[in-house]
Amino acid sequence: MTTDRILAGAHKEEDDVLETSLRPRRLDDYIGQEKVKDNLRIAVAAAQQRGEPLDHVLLYGPPGLGKTTLANIIASEMGVSIRTTSGPAIERPGDLAAILTNLQQDDVLFIDEVHRLARAVEEILYPAMEDYALDLVLGKGPGARSVRLALPTFTLIGATTRYAMMSPPLRDRFGAVYRLDFYETAAISQIVERSARILEVELDEGGRDEIARRSRGTPRVANRLLRRVRDFAQVMADGAITVEVAREALARLEIDAIGLDEVDHKVLRTIIDKFNGGPVGLDTIAAAISEEADTIMDVYEPYLLQIGFIQRTPRGRVVTRGAYEHLGLPPHGRPSAAGQPALWD
Ligand code: ADE
Repeated sequence: MTTDRILAGAHKEEDDVLETSLRPRRLDDYIGQEKVKDNLRIAVAAAQQRGEPLDHVLLYGPPGLGKTTLANIIASEMGVSIRTTSGPAIERPGDLAAILTNLQQDDVLFIDEVHRLARAVEEILYPAMEDYALDLVLGKGPGARSVRLALPTFTLIGATTRYAMMSPPLRDRFGAVYRLDFYETAAISQIVERSARILEVELDEGGRDEIARRSRGTPRVANRLLRRVRDFAQVMADGAITVEVAREALARLEIDAIGLDEVDHKVLRTIIDKFNGGPVGLDTIAAAISEEADTIMDVYEPYLLQIGFIQRTPRGRVVTRGAYEHLGLPPHGRPSAAGQPALWD
């Protein structure tokens, strides 16, 4: 189900072609995330003045907000090449050693899902990050000895949706850590406008803002919706995206006025109907809707938390009054400690 979900921030294959053409290449073309951009501009300028590689950078935040895009931009701003891989793709220490020894001076090594690196692989990374060195152990047992090889200087850019799952020693070795937040609707509107221009789609302000409002603060979702609405406009209208066309197209995709889809509704309704509004543990919710707990945590939950429809409590997830109102349900009566219904909050 998750793979079909049009609103998931998670990467899908159909994004590839689209993302390469729409992806901004320079910091000046990157919309939003102003604080991160300001800090990066300074860091890049300082490193260039010193003639050094940029400090290792960790980017974290929900999927679809532009971590990979930023990594590519950092490399082009630094004027170096980028080598891209991911935590689970590097299976053995030797795989990482091969990548590291093949880098050119000051290159960027981008590791997506860096929280999923194997322990033994991480250990190769520590001396590489700190001293640009590769420690090799030759032989086994009492006769084993270690030799240190020099590596080219490089910048590691790590990206993760799960900061808390990273091992502290790895986290500590990044000189700069940036958190990407969901975008403001105004920024998403600008992104939709830019993408429409590149794709040569005709769209008015109303159509643009309608798509932006339903994109859950996520550029990847905005670009995906733009493409779907474009198809609809082409076949069912005269090709131009107006507010009416956008509304009709998005309604057909079962995306509601604030960008929630059937899965979000299912998560909320499950907590409300089956668990009396919560608190209920993530694993229990996951089992009730036949989803992986990890998927709910990475993909579905961040936006529901962001808009305040769900709260995390020590005893589990709780649906808030705002969610009831959005779903058109009466404020919920929960049994109080004495077993009497108590009005919500
Ligand atoms: N496309 C995806 N993310 C973007 C961003 N932050 N700025 C401009 N275009 C984008």
